[in-house]
Formats: sequence, C-alpha cells, structure tokens
Amino acid sequence: MQLPMIIVHGGAGNWKDDRIPIGMEFVEKAAAVGHAVLVSGGSSLDAAEACTIFMESCGELNCGRGSYPNEDGVLELDAMIIDGKNLDFGSVAAVKDIENPISLARYIMEKTKYKFFAGINAKRLYDEMIASGYREEKELGIVRPSFTPDVDTVGCIAIDAEGNIAATSSTGGIKNKTAGRIGDSPVMGSGAYANDMCGASATGWGEHIMRVVLSRMTVLYVEEGADPMTAARKGMKMFEEKTGSEAGIIVADKTGVFGYATNAKAMPIAVIQGISGKKTATSCQK
Ligand code: GLY
Repeated sequence: MQLPMIIVHGGAGNWKDDRIPIGMEFVEKAAAVGHAVLVSGGSSLDAAEACTIFMESCGELNCGRGSYPNEDGVLELDAMIIDGKNLDFGSVAAVKDIENPISLARYIMEKTKYKFFAGINAKRLYDEMIASGYREEKELGIVRPSFTPDVDTVGCIAIDAEGNIAATSSTGGIKNKTAGRIGDSPVMGSGAYANDMCGASATGWGEHIMRVVLSRMTVLYVEEGADPMTAARKGMKMFEEKTGSEAGIIVADKTGVFGYATNAKAMPIAVIQGISGKKTATSCQK
C-alpha cells in the first residue's frame, strides 16, 4: 500500500556540489515530519503544512527564514496551499516579517472568504491569525539567513489514507528581485495545483512557469492517461520548448504513484510511502 504518502522537493537550481547533501538532508527530514503527521491520522493538509513549515524554519532552503532577500535586502515571501478534495486554495505574496507564510496561506483558505492576499494587508491578516490562536507566533519574527542558497522554491504533495491530496509551494523568490515582484509560487495552477485525482508542485523561474501554467498542465497529462513520471517529464519538455528556461516539478496521483523531473542542475527529492514508511530519496538531475 502506497498511502499515505508524501513527496517533497527542495528547489531546482544550480546547487553547489557541497550543498546537495545538505539539501537532501533537509528534504528527507521534511518528508519525515509530514509522514509522521499522516500516520498519526492527520489530514493531507495537516501533513503538507507541517512539512512546509519545517522547510521554512530550517534556514537552509529558499523559503521562510532561508529566503533570498530582495534588492532592498528584505525578505518578501510567497506561499500557497491547495486542498485538492475541495479544489480550494489559499495564497500569500510579498509578505514580510513572518517565518511561516504557509500557515497564513492556510488561514486565508480556511478562515476568510478570499483566496489571495499580498504585502502589508497579508501581514495584517497574519497578526489577526496569531491573535485568534489559529497558530502561535514564532520566535521574534523572521531571522535573517546566514547562508544564501543558490536554489529555488520548495514544495510538497501529501496524500492521506483516503486519497485526499494537498500541495504546497513556498519561496523567497529569485535573488535580488525588485521589491514587490511576485513569482509563480502563490499562483494557483502555476506554482502548484491539486484536484481529486492528482497534485503537482513546481520550482524554477516563476515568470516562465506562469507562462505555461506548469503545474496545472502536468496534472492534465495525468488526467489524460500519463503515469506521473511520464507526466513530469512531458511537463518539463513542454516547459523547456516553450520558454527555454529552467524549472522542476513533482507530481503524485491519488493512489500514491509519483513522478519528478527537472532541467536544472539538481533538485533534491524525498518520498515516503505507506504506513511502513518506504523511503525514496534522490538528487534529481536534468
Ligand atoms: N519559483 C519561484 C519564483 O520564481 O518566485
């Protein structure tokens, strides 16, 4: 039995050789966090959020505390969480001074009548979220990273024992971005997508991922009959042919069959399947 399962990526990009084992270590730990939630009876949303919080808080990946600063030296974070069962999502963009934008994205999805907030007003909602007790404040706001990664966005797909799919993406965006720039990660269908059949999460150059709506397109290939590994490769081939840019994608269907592909130098991947916790970990390469 392949369910429950979780697949995690730590960002596609030009990973320095000595950083790849560190990226692998943190995606494997993140997958273990999400898998533990699933085996203890948590939902796919609970697992995807917990896994993504781990990556945002670890400081070693381009999300949360570890994010690239923008050209003003400020961290502006984007994140999205998707509930495939209800085709619902919450997104947050260009939000400052918080560590875990993924929890704010979930708050937006579950507790407001809207889907997507940006900037100072997203931060106001964060303050409301903390005041309401929905989540606890972390430390003293954000901690500046001591290490600048040379990689992109993180994300995961979690599937609970009932086959409900949740997907996430979370990022600091591209290095030295202009203040206010928002990439693909919080954009439904581009940075991630999930429905009641399949989920996907993308990483790479957001301007180009949005041009081809990469995550939705890759899920569509599964809906049309491709297995997830074939769909991931087809998605990346389409992306490269149309844009000439670099990206990566993970895919998983409701039975726990998964796929991944990148045309970047590396993309750390960790998967854990079933109650027994069968592990797959690889530094996916182009
Ligand atoms: N994929 C992340 C970004 O372009 O912002």
